[in-house]
Amino acid sequence: MKSILENRPALEATVMQVAEVAGYLWEKGWAERNGGNITVNISEHVDDEIKAMPAISDVIQIGTTLPNIKDCYFYCKGTGKRMRDLARWPMQNGSIIRILPDCASYVIIADEVVMPTSELPSHLSMHDYLIGSGSKYKASLHTHPIELVAMSHNPAMLKKDVMTKLLWSMIPETLAFAPLGLGIVPYELPGSVKLADATLEQIKDYDVVMWEKHGICAVGLDIMDAFDQADVLNKAATIYLRAKSMGFEPTGMTDEAMKEVQDVFHLPKKRPC
Ligand code: 13P
Ligand code: ZN
Repeated sequence: MKSILENRPALEATVMQVAEVAGYLWEKGWAERNGGNITVNISEHVDDEIKAMPAISDVIQIGTTLPNIKDCYFYCKGTGKRMRDLARWPMQNGSIIRILPDCASYVIIADEVVMPTSELPSHLSMHDYLIGSGSKYKASLHTHPIELVAMSHNPAMLKKDVMTKLLWSMIPETLAFAPLGLGIVPYELPGSVKLADATLEQIKDYDVVMWEKHGICAVGLDIMDAFDQADVLNKAATIYLRAKSMGFEPTGMTDEAMKEVQDVFHLPKKRPC
């Protein structure tokens, strides 16, 4: 069977980057079993031949109505599929969907009938917001980074921007490469529209948001960009926890040192250091 990726090098490169990141997620221990999911808006790679491709699934409801994603196309990890398998076979462990004109349902068009991730409401809500706000971001990642999830079990860490400031203060690069910090989404049922709605509120202000006691969601220009931001924040969380496990509270960079990084690197100053 011919793959949709054949003779479409730009689309193939996008999907292969997803596969590369899926491998990193597995290696990091962030993707147990089917843990985590990825979606990428691939509409820019869609030609007339793709537009004419018939549905290979029934019409499936999203569970919410999202006007900005009308007629868009997304690569989606399959529900129940493993990142470590997707790393090798992205089109057997994910599929390409077309959003229908009602903005509330979709069909699968390629390569195989792989049902998209159970977190599709959250992913598509974020894409809808990104398109509506004119963002260049195309990718959305949900994963289970060990140290960040561990920190989210402490209620004190869930107050607005407490984790952001703590993580920024662990190593200067965190501030430089995750300059918007970490939003907080209080616990909601995985896959629920309530989780999607709460995520949407936070993603307006943050590129990475914590799903309390579950994982993180990150958006970026492409999937590598989204992964990098999550990786940088989890590195800072790991440094914090290593210091704690050595028996001391890490001092963290001073407010002055952090402000200097913000100034010198011309970083957005949306949150207080
Ligand atoms: P899926 O296998 O449906 O993508 O779910 C994994 C997950 O992490 C749910 O939060
Ligand atoms: Zn999850």
